[in-house]
Amino acid sequence: MPGRPFLQIPGPSIVPERVIRAMSQPLIDHRGPQFAALLGEVLDGLKALFKTTQGRILLFPGSGTGAWECCIVNTLSPGEQVLGCVNGYFSDQFCRMAISHGIDVQRLEVEYGAGVAADAIEERLRRDKEQRIRAVLIVQTETSTGVTTNLAAVRKAIDAARHPALLLADVVSSLGCTDLRFDEWKLDVALTAAQKGLMLPPGMALLAVSEKALEANRSAKCARSFWDWQAVLENNAEGHFPYTPATTLLFGLSESLKMLVEEGLDNVIRRHARLAAACRSAIEAMNLKLFARNPEEYSNTLTAVAMPAGFDSDAFNDHALKLVDLPLGKGLGKLKGKLFRIGHLGSINELELLGILGGVEMALKSFGIKLRLGAGLAAAETYLLETNNQRSPL
Ligand SMILES: Cc1ncc(COP(=O)(O)O)c(C=O)c1O
Repeated sequence: MPGRPFLQIPGPSIVPERVIRAMSQPLIDHRGPQFAALLGEVLDGLKALFKTTQGRILLFPGSGTGAWECCIVNTLSPGEQVLGCVNGYFSDQFCRMAISHGIDVQRLEVEYGAGVAADAIEERLRRDKEQRIRAVLIVQTETSTGVTTNLAAVRKAIDAARHPALLLADVVSSLGCTDLRFDEWKLDVALTAAQKGLMLPPGMALLAVSEKALEANRSAKCARSFWDWQAVLENNAEGHFPYTPATTLLFGLSESLKMLVEEGLDNVIRRHARLAAACRSAIEAMNLKLFARNPEEYSNTLTAVAMPAGFDSDAFNDHALKLVDLPLGKGLGKLKGKLFRIGHLGSINELELLGILGGVEMALKSFGIKLRLGAGLAAAETYLLETNNQRSPL
């Protein structure tokens, strides 16, 4: 297809031209001074992005799944208990990863479509009189359902229960899209991957870790070698890594961090919130239902749309691809066939969103869903006009 390709899965997001150009340069010696300067710059930039001055940043070749494993094996020991908050496919996978390392995961099950209620976490921690629970595992934006859990409230709940559990948060699809305050919310690990709000190709796992997490790391007994934090921290202090790093991705990361600073992080998050709200208004005007239940938990990153009864969402995804070359996210795990997901994260603007919504509307109509062509677009256009030059709430 000629023209700008659309990739509206909720990550990987579109890699901006600037980032592609920054990555299109010859490799440098990953043990030389130029590399040390690059590393220092990206670590500082990431600290600002995670909003931490206290935390340390750790980078590994990998993905979000790798970041889960890296977090678990560095902070926990086999046999230890954690509270695993499960409200979708990815939080379930995070917990399964912990189980595979011999961790005793006590699941806090939440209906898919809702965020994790801080009260429920507080109640479970209060019940843990012997304070055997070592950590709370949670996903900020559950990408399978389009729901964002309030991490500030989760921190308050842990404090209210006077419980020492570590707070281990997956921010894979929320960092750079949604407000995140590592220090203020006293997160112990916030883990993410390159291909979402950071607008990079896949291939990097990124973690911010607190002093308390580093303390836990010293006694954590899960087997680890490649993922070990200590070796990376020691080598990073000298400006390099204990292995060959993904230098090209670091070139890209340096550029994407510059782009986020130029726009202003608050503006980046407002842009995501505003485009997400426009997308939801379009979906509702098409008489379709959002999968996320509670407005205060709607995600800035993606919109999950419940497929009307009698229609299979996988078949719809295939249809949209065939009709207008529009890849959308599929329903994952037990949501297979039940919903489709529109990614609106990373490098995206109003006109691109309207293009996506036009494609979704055409695809739905020709798939047999009853709607008036243009109704969704008009709703999104109206919302965008009404909020033009306005600061939409974070
Ligand atoms: C919230 C969340 N966590 C973890 C992952 C897994 O990341 P990856 O596919 O990079 O391994 C994803 C992937 O989309 C995700 O959305």
